[in-house]
Amino acid sequence: MKIAVANGDGIGPEIMQAVLSIFQAAGVSLEYEFVDMGKWVFDKGFSNGMTDQAKETIENLGILFKGPMETPKGKGVKSINVTARKTWNTYANKRTFQTLHGVETVFSKAGIPIDITIVRENIEDTYGGIEHMLTHDVALSRRFITRPGSLQLIKYAFEMARQKGTRRITCGHKANIMKLTDGLFLECFYEVAKEYPDLKADDVIVDDLCMKLVTRPDSFDVVVLTNLQGDIVSDLCAGLVGGLGFAPSANIGDHISIFEAVHGTAPDITGRNIANPTALLLSGLAMLRHLGLMQSASVIENALLFTLESGVHTGDFGDKSILPVNTTTFAEAIIGNFGKQPLNSPKAAEIDHPSTCTVFHLEHNPMLESVDDVQEKIMGVDIFIESNLQPEELAEKCLRHGGIKYKLVSISNRGTQVWPTGSIYTNLVNQYNIRFESTDDTSLRQNDIIGLYASLSGDFKVCSLELLNSWGSKKGYSLAQGQ
Ligand code: NAI
Repeated sequence: MKIAVANGDGIGPEIMQAVLSIFQAAGVSLEYEFVDMGKWVFDKGFSNGMTDQAKETIENLGILFKGPMETPKGKGVKSINVTARKTWNTYANKRTFQTLHGVETVFSKAGIPIDITIVRENIEDTYGGIEHMLTHDVALSRRFITRPGSLQLIKYAFEMARQKGTRRITCGHKANIMKLTDGLFLECFYEVAKEYPDLKADDVIVDDLCMKLVTRPDSFDVVVLTNLQGDIVSDLCAGLVGGLGFAPSANIGDHISIFEAVHGTAPDITGRNIANPTALLLSGLAMLRHLGLMQSASVIENALLFTLESGVHTGDFGDKSILPVNTTTFAEAIIGNFGKQPLNSPKAAEIDHPSTCTVFHLEHNPMLESVDDVQEKIMGVDIFIESNLQPEELAEKCLRHGGIKYKLVSISNRGTQVWPTGSIYTNLVNQYNIRFESTDDTSLRQNDIIGLYASLSGDFKVCSLELLNSWGSKKGYSLAQGQ
C-alpha cells in the first residue's frame, strides 16, 4: 500500500521523521510518496499551499499523512489544513482523547479514566470563511449547516460508536439559540439515532457540555458536534488528557482521508528536536488501523504505552524530577520497547483486518441533495441596508417602498427588533435588517423582490438580502429578538 506524506512546517519534519522511523523499525508495510504542501509552497506562489502534483498524488492514493502546516498571516490566503479537509470532503473529524498512563493529569491522579471520542463536522459551519464587511463597521460571517452534510457526519459517528461498543453518543449543540442551523443538526442527529436503538443517544447544550466535561469527563463516550464548537470542545478534551501533545486527529471521507495531529507547527520550539511526537504517532496508528494494519498498530501502541508508563518523556509533559529526552531519543525508546506490554493499559487488537479504505475515481462532483416534496414559497425578504437614521425615521422612509405587494413587518439591528416596538436602550450600529412580507400571505416572485431592491436602493445602500422561504407550515427564517 502506498500513501502520500507531507512533512509540514515548523516541528512537522522533526516529528514526521520520528514517527516514520518507528514505522520502519516495526516493519509497517507501507510505501510513502512525499508531496509538496505547506507554507514554503505558498511562498513559491501556489495560492492553495500545494503543488498540482501533490494534489494529483493525494487524489490517486486516497490517504494523506501530514505534519502541521502554517497558514501565512495577513496575505489573504486560506488555511491549507482547512482547504485540504474541505476540498476532499473529509467530512468527519475524529479525535480521540484517552487517559495515558505516565501522562499525569488531575483526572489520572484522581483515578478518573477518560476515553472520549469527539466527532466533529469538518466541512461546513463558519469554516467556509465566507465573510463580508457590510459597512465599514459591520462584518458578517455565513454559517452553513446542511441536511446532507450533517447526515453524512452523524451516520459515520453512529456507525463508529456501534463498532467501538460505545454506551452513549451525545450531540453537543446550541439549538436553543441557533434554532435553524444547530436545530437542523440536532434534528438530523435524532433522525439517525432511530436506526441505532442499541445506542443511548442524547444531547447537551454546548456550554453545559463544557462544564460537564471538566467535572465528569468519564460520563461521556462519543460526542458529535458542528465544526467550530467541535474544534473548541476538542481542545478542551486535549487539556483533560495532558495537552495537545496527546491529541490525534483523523479526517475521514468516503474517498480521501487525512491523518494529522491536532496541534500546530509550534514555531517557538522548531528546529530544536524537542517536540513531542506522540500526537502524530497516535494519528499514524489510527491511519494504520484504517488501513487494516492492526498488528503493526498494536505493537507500536503497546510500546508507546509502555514507554510512557516507564516515565520517558519529552519536555512538554511528565515527571519533572526525571530529565526529559529529545524527539529522536523518545522515538528510539519506543522502538526499544517493541514487544513489551503496558501494565496499566488495555491490550490493543492484533488481528489485521481488510482495509476499509477504497480508492476510486469520480466522473462528476457528487451532488448531496435530500428529497423534499413540500412546496416552497417566498413569503418575504430581509433586506440589509446601511443607515445611521433612528428606527422611526428609517421606518417612515421604508414604508414608502412597500407598495401594494409588501408590508413592512419589522426593523432590527444586530438581530434585535427596534421597530415597530423596541427599547431606547438598544445600542445601534449603522446597518439594519428591514423585513418585508407579502401583504396577502401569497408567495412572492423573485422579480417582485428585485423591484423592491431597486426601489430601496434609491434611498439606501443595500448591503445584502435573504429570501424568507417557507415549506408548508415550516418557516425557513428566524424572528428578530423581541419580534
Ligand atoms: P501550536 O499547536 O503550534 O502551539 C501551541 C503551543 O503548544 C506552543 O507552546 C507549542 O510549543 C506547543 N506544542 C504544540 N505541539 C507540540 C508538540 N508536539 N510538542 C511539544 N509542544 C507542542 O499552536 P499555534 O502556536 O497557535 O499555531 C502555530 C501555527 O500552526 C499557526 O500557523 C497555525 O495556523 C498552525 N496550525 C496548524 C494546524 C494543522 O496543521 N493541523 C493546527 C493548528 C495550528
